[in-house]
Amino acid sequence: MNKPIIAPSILASDFANLQREVEMLNESEADWIHIDIMDGIFVPNISFGIPVTEAIAAHAKKPLDVHLMIEKPENYVEAFYKAGAASISVHYEACPHLHRNLQQIKDLGCRAGVAINPHTNVQLLEDVIHDIDIVCLMSVNPGFGGQKFIENTYNKVRQLKEIIVDAGASTMIEIDGGVNQSNAGHLIEAGADILVAGSFVFKSSEPKDTIADLKNV
Ligand code: DX5
Ligand code: ZN
Repeated sequence: MNKPIIAPSILASDFANLQREVEMLNESEADWIHIDIMDGIFVPNISFGIPVTEAIAAHAKKPLDVHLMIEKPENYVEAFYKAGAASISVHYEACPHLHRNLQQIKDLGCRAGVAINPHTNVQLLEDVIHDIDIVCLMSVNPGFGGQKFIENTYNKVRQLKEIIVDAGASTMIEIDGGVNQSNAGHLIEAGADILVAGSFVFKSSEPKDTIADLKNV
């Protein structure tokens, strides 16, 4: 089994000690740092924005994986690129001109991602699969950390993997929400490449060990 890319979500970290949390991730086996941006419109919660992302980037030694849970992401993509994003994911459900959004992200030199909500069928991405570097399958309804993993995600990973293989594309599959030690192995077996984990990492007593456990699951 290939080792997954581990992307701890900073959303579950201690915001009053962000520098310390980022330094912990620097020293850990984490590959990327997942940054959850919520606007209170696309999702029923507000997280943080561009200045906080810049502050994280100033200390991070790992690439920032920015997940935009916002309406009109095209208005903010460049600002997040300038703030330090290495990859930027927009939501399918927020993008009537998805192909244009993806080109905008690629033109900046970032990896382009599309996140889809639990109810959104993976087949809707078939015609743009070659334009997508990362599909982020939401395994919870976006908006909050600490929710229960939705089991149907396994089917979606398998279906999406088939679409990617059939198309001969190199798109990576990222899983976001409720990831833990008991579902990580099954997700990788099903075809996942990247695991995002928030609460499971930051609420554990030894986050660095928890990250290593996920990496070597
Ligand atoms: C949910 C976010 C997730 C979340 C994951 O809206 O996109 O990245 O922070 O947190 P856990 O791992 O706690 O479900
Ligand atoms: Zn996320």
